[in-house]
This record gives sequence, structure tokens and C-alpha cells, in this order.
Amino acid sequence: MTDTSPSFLLLDAARGLPVSRTPVWLMRQAGRYMPEFRAIRQKVDFLTLCNTPELAVEVSMQPIDQLNVDGAIIFSDLLIPAQAMGGDLEYVKGEGPVIHNPVRTEADVKNLRAPHPQEASPALGEAIALLVKAVEPRIPVLGFTGAPWTTAAYMIEGGGSSHYRYIKTMMYHEPALFDRLLEHISGVLIQYLDYQARSGARLVQIFDTWAGALSLADYRRFALPTTQRVIQGFKALQPDVPLILYVNNSNHLLEATAEAGADVLSLDWRVPLGEVPTRVGAEVSVQGNLDPCLLFGPASGVEQGVKDVLASWKSPTRHIFNLGHGILPETPVENVKRLVEWVKEYGQH
Ligand code: CP3
Repeated sequence: MTDTSPSFLLLDAARGLPVSRTPVWLMRQAGRYMPEFRAIRQKVDFLTLCNTPELAVEVSMQPIDQLNVDGAIIFSDLLIPAQAMGGDLEYVKGEGPVIHNPVRTEADVKNLRAPHPQEASPALGEAIALLVKAVEPRIPVLGFTGAPWTTAAYMIEGGGSSHYRYIKTMMYHEPALFDRLLEHISGVLIQYLDYQARSGARLVQIFDTWAGALSLADYRRFALPTTQRVIQGFKALQPDVPLILYVNNSNHLLEATAEAGADVLSLDWRVPLGEVPTRVGAEVSVQGNLDPCLLFGPASGVEQGVKDVLASWKSPTRHIFNLGHGILPETPVENVKRLVEWVKEYGQH
């Protein structure tokens, strides 16, 4: 596929090739902070939105049209594969995702399905193909999935969690069962990422939103091996598709996350970008890492924040500008627009 690829800033920066300026996209760039998104959500529920290709593409396109970012992430959710494995998933207003049949016992693990991604999520492949038609050759499409640990956390906890009591109970009490569950999940996620690449995604991102709740030793024991497995498995199938690994709240895990084998490490704002080459070497690219809450402050603070993040990365390539976590609902759209403009202005090389 590489021979015929148009040139994309995002891919060049991920691969460490020269770029004329730092590319920018934003995690959760489609979402409730945009009135156009809320207007669609008034008419359809969240899962219908994810499962209707035309609507998913319309929502994926909203930030492309309005912000002029350098990448189009497909609109979907991290919990779609958990649902395909048998999770009784519901998005409860005000509460976020809930899985009504959490995985807690050996029988629960045995009963999990190993879905064929195209059969389980036909809308996702269709949506990616449609989105590619809408945005290429201007910008590339990104696919994504959760990391095994974060996916397992939702499946075991049954939803959001503040202490991760159930997943940690299984880890410490029944480590062999936990390992089997993560093996199962990682096999599913490799196929799911490959399916997105075959449908037209030119980069993929793995979100490990919750692994920052682990100590370094537990991250190495319980999360890193299956993240590595997903990355190796995906790379064996799609050697030309760069892979971004995002681990939230991970300053204490940086050296370990770098061993996962991703092309790009997506970092939260607690990690000074300038430390990355000395801590993990110069062969990795970085993505990030403005604090999304800075967007709630005055425009002058956003401008300074953009300059500071750009100045913290010394190499002329290997940096994709992004936030340190997803855009929050109620973020002022004007500040998001300016943010992208400033990255394009101050990120010229
Ligand atoms: O980035 C994008 O624009 C693509 C879309 C995207 C969504 N979820 C849409 C969404 C992506 C990449 C995700 C990933 C995702 N989903 C993550 C990892 C990202 C991160 O922030 O770390 C996580 C943890 C989830 C699980 C999930 N889905 C939660 C916790 C929620 C509730 C969030 C909330 O703010 O209420 C969702 C629902 C969800 N996924 C929404 C969106 C736009 C809000 C849905 C709505 O109410 O309209």
C-alpha cells in the first residue's frame, strides 16, 4: 500500500521523515462540545450513531470541516469489541458506558465470544471506507481500539471505576484466569485493528486510558505483555501502518510503555516531551500533550500552551500535536479552532 500512498504529514511525522510543519489532530475531536454533534445526538442514541455508517462519517467529518485538523479519526467507541465478545452494553445518560453482565468468573471467561470483526461490526468497515473517500488524499483516516488492560477493565468492572477493585481483585486473586482473559481479548483486538487497516485506516491508535492506575511493577506484569502482543500481532499483518500507543496518567510508566513497540507514544501533560529522548531513546515519535483543561482558560493561555508544547520537542519531526487526553464536553469551540490555527502557524519548520 505504501507505494501508492499519497503523502500525509501525520504519517511522515509518525515515521520520523521530514515534515514542513508539525501535524495536529485531537483525541475526541468529534463529540459533545460541538453543537452539530449534539444536534445529531438529539435524534439518535449513541450506539445507533456508531452503527450507522453514514451518521458515523457525518460526525467524523464535523471536526474536519470546522477545525481543519490533519487526521480524521473514525467515530466509534472503545467498547464496541467488548460488546462483540458478549458484553451487554448500554450508554446510560450521565453515567457513561455500563456493561450489565461483567466478566468475573471462570465460566464468564469461557463464555466469551471470539467475534469475526467484519461479521460483528460491519458498520465500522463501511464507515471507514466512506470516510476515506471523503478525506483522502487531503488527510488520512485513523482507526483505534482500547488496549487489552483498559478493555478488560470495562468488561470486569462493568463500567467506569474509581478504584478498579474488581479487575485488581482478579489480577491478584486469580492471575492465571486474568492472563487467559487478556490473551483472549488481545487476539480479538489484533483482528479488530487489522480489519480497520484493511478497510482503509492508515494509522491506528491503541487507547490504554486506565493503565495509569497500575504501579510500574504491575503494569509490567499485567498490562505490558498483552499490549506488546497486540502490537506485534498487528505489525505482522500490517507492517506499513504506524501505530500510536496512548497511556493516560503514565509518567511513571514511560520507560515501560516504550517497550511495547509502538511507533508513536501519545503522552499526557504530566510527561515533559523534552525528557522522552533521554528516558527512552530517539527512535520513537511522540504525540501530545496539551492539558485539555487549558482550553477552558483564556485564548492567550491556549496560545502560550501551544508554543510551550512545540518548544518542548527539539527534533524537527517525530511530533504529532495533540491534547494529553480527549477534549471534554463544554470546551469552548472557539478555543479549539484557535488551537489548531496556532499549531499550524507556530509549528512551521
Ligand atoms: O476521538 C474521536 O473523535 C473518535 C471517537 C471516540 C469516542 N470514544 C466517541 C465517544 C473515541 C476515540 C473514543 C474512545 C474511548 N471510549 C475511550 C478512550 C479515549 C479516552 O478518552 O481515553 C474511552 C475511555 C471510551 C469509553 C467511553 N465511551 C466513555 C467513558 C464514554 C462516556 C464519555 C462521556 O463523556 O460521557 C463513552 C461515550 C462516548 N464515546 C462519547 C463519544 C463522543 C459521548 C457519547 C455521547 O453521550 O454523545
